[in-house]
Amino acid sequence: GAAAPIVVASNRGPVSYRRGADGGLVAGRGGGGLVSGLSSIEREAKAVWVCAALGEGDREAARAAGRRLDPEDTGGHRVRMLDIPPGTFAAAYNGIANSVLWFVHHMLYQTPLEPVFDKAFREQWAAYEAYNAAFADAVAEEAAQGAAVLVQDYHLALVPGLLRARRPDLRIGHFSHTPWAPPDYFRMLPDDVAGQLLRGVLGGDRAAFLTSRWAEAFAACCADVLGAEVVRDGEGRAAEVRCEGRVTRLGVHGLGADGDFLRERAHRADVEERMAALRSQIGGPDRRTIVRVDRTELSKNIVRGLHAYRRLLEEHPQWRGRVVHIAFAYPSRQDLAVYRDYTAEVERVAREINSAFGTEGWEPVALHVKDDFARSLAAYRLADVALVNPIRDGMNLVAKEVPVVSDHGCALVLSREAGAAAELGDEAILVNPYDVEATARALHFALLMDPGERAERTKRLAAAATALPPARWFTDQLRAL
Ligand code: G6P
Repeated sequence: GAAAPIVVASNRGPVSYRRGADGGLVAGRGGGGLVSGLSSIEREAKAVWVCAALGEGDREAARAAGRRLDPEDTGGHRVRMLDIPPGTFAAAYNGIANSVLWFVHHMLYQTPLEPVFDKAFREQWAAYEAYNAAFADAVAEEAAQGAAVLVQDYHLALVPGLLRARRPDLRIGHFSHTPWAPPDYFRMLPDDVAGQLLRGVLGGDRAAFLTSRWAEAFAACCADVLGAEVVRDGEGRAAEVRCEGRVTRLGVHGLGADGDFLRERAHRADVEERMAALRSQIGGPDRRTIVRVDRTELSKNIVRGLHAYRRLLEEHPQWRGRVVHIAFAYPSRQDLAVYRDYTAEVERVAREINSAFGTEGWEPVALHVKDDFARSLAAYRLADVALVNPIRDGMNLVAKEVPVVSDHGCALVLSREAGAAAELGDEAILVNPYDVEATARALHFALLMDPGERAERTKRLAAAATALPPARWFTDQLRAL
């Protein structure tokens, strides 16, 4: 293939492969906010997307494909999938990216016991360096002279710096889809590792984030750890980081929901079918529904959400038999024991609520753990209340998708620690995600909201949620580069 004027690099690509029943490889779509955003890249834009093979199916497909995957499988994208040695990949992805960096940026550690930066950590860190170098090599090969390179997320924090050293002609941007940790927390990392991560991102021409809160935290880390100078714009916002002779501009691009796609998708027959199934599970037309949809992710705060629902039923018995909590908790990162334990805890608490309160003909919690996008959309359309209560989240697209497809208006209970709160805070009911009592009160308030007001608020939420659709989110970054 010819060298590309635009290269995107991310760990997870737009497609993943698994072995089908007949032994052949089956292509499916990747999940998470990053893939949703990037999938709308103009197919004709001559972009190449570099990603990692995540499992055995991917590895086989990558090997069989040679340099590029079959565009039939990728929704038309030109994709180069890297077959990184399994041990290196596992140490970089499970060990560093999802255990250390994810935990730092979402502040998930229980610090009396974790983290421990020992010899095993050092081995994983070496793998993370090798994995980032493999990406930098592949991007350097794919990129045309002067090409724009858009590097995604915490998996690839070292890539901008490595790439700058190999190809000074490129324009390089890094985008974080997560929060960024404040300096007092970030400094838990070993000094050399903290410095390498920041210098890695600063190797690009731009470092961009989902909200100004994360951009400010990044700038504060650069000042604190590296002694960098932070240059502010007329409104006092961090605009540039100057460090060791280089200037890196900061950007904020609040990824929005894809309104046109969602509205069309949410009215197809498969969604209507699932609405019928959900209605019969809810039972009774007067029953209200509280909906949540998440990956079963430690930062999503599903367990406290269930406790809040339980408190609602205890404090306000009038809702017993009159509300159903539809909770979709889809499997995520099951290689990690903490995620498996968390999944088990979610299931346990849901069962406990059902056995404490359930009656003949009323199941208080309807928990579903098998990923089904059409069913998620069906629940969005039906919901009276959406509960989005992460303890920390880069943005949270569920909060933006629900109001877009809602049939009759939906009250949004939203964590103030989600990036989305910066854009939706005026119309949502904001909660402190740790405060179970306050969350229970917010659910009660949301259930009582006048339908007219609810519909009005939903309209304004939908407008705010679609202010920056994925295609523009992408082209804005290209233009800024
Ligand atoms: C978050 C990250 C993405 C990631 C997604 C799903 O949204 O920012 O980079 O792809 O989670 O996680 P996974 O580990 O399954 O790719």
